[in-house]
Amino acid sequence: MLILGIESSCDETAAAVVEDGRRIRSNVIATQIETHRRFGGVVPEIASREHLEKIDEVVSEALRGAGIGIDGINGIAVTQGPGLVGSLLVGINYAKGLAYAAGKPIVGVNHIEGHIYSPVFEHGEPEYPALALVVSGGHTNLFLIPEPERYKLIGRTRDDAAGEAFDKVSKLLGLGYPGGPLIDRLARQGDRRAIIFPLAEIKDPLHRLDFSFSGLKTAVLRYVRENDIPQVADPAAAPQVVLDLCASFQNAVVRALVRSLRKAAEEYRPRTILLAGGVACNSELRASVSELATGMAIPLHIPSPVHTTDNAAMIAAAGYPKLLRGESAPWQMSAEVSWRIQNVDVEAPAKRVRYRL
Ligand code: KG4
Ligand code: ZN
Repeated sequence: MLILGIESSCDETAAAVVEDGRRIRSNVIATQIETHRRFGGVVPEIASREHLEKIDEVVSEALRGAGIGIDGINGIAVTQGPGLVGSLLVGINYAKGLAYAAGKPIVGVNHIEGHIYSPVFEHGEPEYPALALVVSGGHTNLFLIPEPERYKLIGRTRDDAAGEAFDKVSKLLGLGYPGGPLIDRLARQGDRRAIIFPLAEIKDPLHRLDFSFSGLKTAVLRYVRENDIPQVADPAAAPQVVLDLCASFQNAVVRALVRSLRKAAEEYRPRTILLAGGVACNSELRASVSELATGMAIPLHIPSPVHTTDNAAMIAAAGYPKLLRGESAPWQMSAEVSWRIQNVDVEAPAKRVRYRL
């Protein structure tokens, strides 16, 4: 089954053709990073205009790359939400037009569910129950997945997403946008123990797996002010104090993420751990989660960087089981700006198992 995936929820216009939910036949991503860089973040109106300009060419290129025409595909999967409304609507309306004209079924896919499917290309299907940490610019969610397409949200950020924290701290230091890759690079030359930032404590026992990054961001701001840390015009010439600050901040984010992941893994005993979303590119997070998974003898599925950040192959993969079942969205389908996936209630196993690392 050949599925055309279309993704336009934020600042990447993407299309891909995926065979049987697993094999990528083409994967085209037109990023708007250069456009938004000078504003220090994504400007929604500009994003939707650029999607509109690029979508036709991006989809044509994906079909060309797969060596087929629209008649050769069996269905279309498009990101329906969550995301920026104007951006989502460009992809959804384009996909609906194409589906109508070509007489193909279409399904709306949740962007987060797409990220959860992103490791499938290199690792295949996970074993269930799986535990997924989805960390991106807009989301920081921990899901328990007892079986395919069933999600229990067991942890989420109370304020900023992890990627957002990277982007904001980067802006604060004058480093640029997007901040994650820049901080990751500079952190390699810094001392992560130079400043020990405390981790936020979530007191509410019902939400003990939740995250909070706004306090950390404020702590970095205070440190910058109190120590007269200069703005960095050229990241290649960043002073040691900035390198140390990047390393210490990154380490605090990673410790917070891994702390909840560890607690959840101990409690739910998953058979696979999935790490997805743009922040899963982070070298320290990848290393730290690998260490955790190895110590607990749980297989870890992390996508390669090109499948980690926003793309349409993951949307096609998530749409595959739905199209296979014969689902088809009604023509009035529209953007679901704050669509959350949470469709099961699962209790932790009664017997707790302790792991030693
Ligand atoms: O998944 P994604 O492409 O888009 C969203 O759905 O948000 O994630 C983008 C986010 C940005 O905040 C970016 O700074 C962050 O992922 N990011 C990273 C790294 N690469 C991208 N954060 C930390 N370290 C990285 N190496
Ligand atoms: Zn994303």
